[in-house]
Amino acid sequence: STPDPFIQILPKVELHVHLEGTLTPSLRFALAQRNNLPLHSARLNKTFTSLPDLESAYNLLQPRSIKGVGLSAFFEAYYGGMEVLQSEQDFHDLGIEYFKRAKQMGVVYCEVMFDVQAHTRRGVEIGVLMRGLESARREADELGVKVNYIMCFLRDLSPEDAMMHYEMALPYREMIVGIGLDSNEYGRPPLLFDEVYKRAREDGFKLTCHCDVTQKDTHEHIRQVACELGGTGADRIDHGLDAAEAPELVEIIKIKRTGMTLCPWAYVRHHKEENVFGYVRRLFDAGVLVNISSDSPAYVESNWVVDNLMLLKIKGGFTDDEIVKVQFNAVDICWAPKSLKAEMR
Ligand code: HPA
Ligand code: ZN
Repeated sequence: STPDPFIQILPKVELHVHLEGTLTPSLRFALAQRNNLPLHSARLNKTFTSLPDLESAYNLLQPRSIKGVGLSAFFEAYYGGMEVLQSEQDFHDLGIEYFKRAKQMGVVYCEVMFDVQAHTRRGVEIGVLMRGLESARREADELGVKVNYIMCFLRDLSPEDAMMHYEMALPYREMIVGIGLDSNEYGRPPLLFDEVYKRAREDGFKLTCHCDVTQKDTHEHIRQVACELGGTGADRIDHGLDAAEAPELVEIIKIKRTGMTLCPWAYVRHHKEENVFGYVRRLFDAGVLVNISSDSPAYVESNWVVDNLMLLKIKGGFTDDEIVKVQFNAVDICWAPKSLKAEMR
């Protein structure tokens, strides 16, 4: 969908977007060719030999109409897709393709997540990925798009592996503003990773953590992030939409001014509640600092931040003024340097 002129022109801040989730079929296809890799889906038992072929698979993996196509199919597509990322140049190209698109969409500042372990476990050396991301960031800066990186740990791997990667990333700390936790949340409460969160807080990093929608123990996970993670609670919660079901959580999040990064298209796809915008509205109206982002836009039926804002307007009934407020919220809860924050206000 094309965004309306107001949403297009509005300077935007995106705070929850996974760089690996911006890998479009066309870039994936090009990188596979460059690296001489076959494109294969185990789930579909199919090898893709042309771009249209691959594009149709992105649609197959993601349609809302197919019940039961939820997070597990998403994870398979997401981790499968990134296998084409091999060289420093590949990571650079992935980064700059998103940053150019961000510029076209009117995004002036973004905080971009990456999954370090998803690459090292495939044999990609951490320096390869970090150098590629850093050169993309420098190029983005020249385009007028300011970028900070958030390093996420995979919560389905062990806390020890997270700590090991935390230490491996310390030589690159200047390019990392905060740490997060993503991947499959089932049976993996945030506090399992408290040691690395505490360490990161001591070292001066900002803290965020995914709480996916309709997860088992979702309210308890949200409570841990808001109240306890890293000692006194994280700075932000990624998703956490189901807090809207628990007034006591909403109150805590509001009082602590914990930021929330919501990605509406991702919820429309698999939330049990038909009207997810009732939840978004409840949090926003309660005075929670809600921001709207895209999560993994290439894999969520190709819905980028402007599409998420359009959905907020059309389905959620948010007015233009309220959408402006969403951007000011983002400036409040973002981790840009003070001078840049002042500029964005
Ligand atoms: N949830 C958990 N892990 C993820 C997501 C998400 O929405 N996107 C990319 N990794
Ligand atoms: Zn996410």
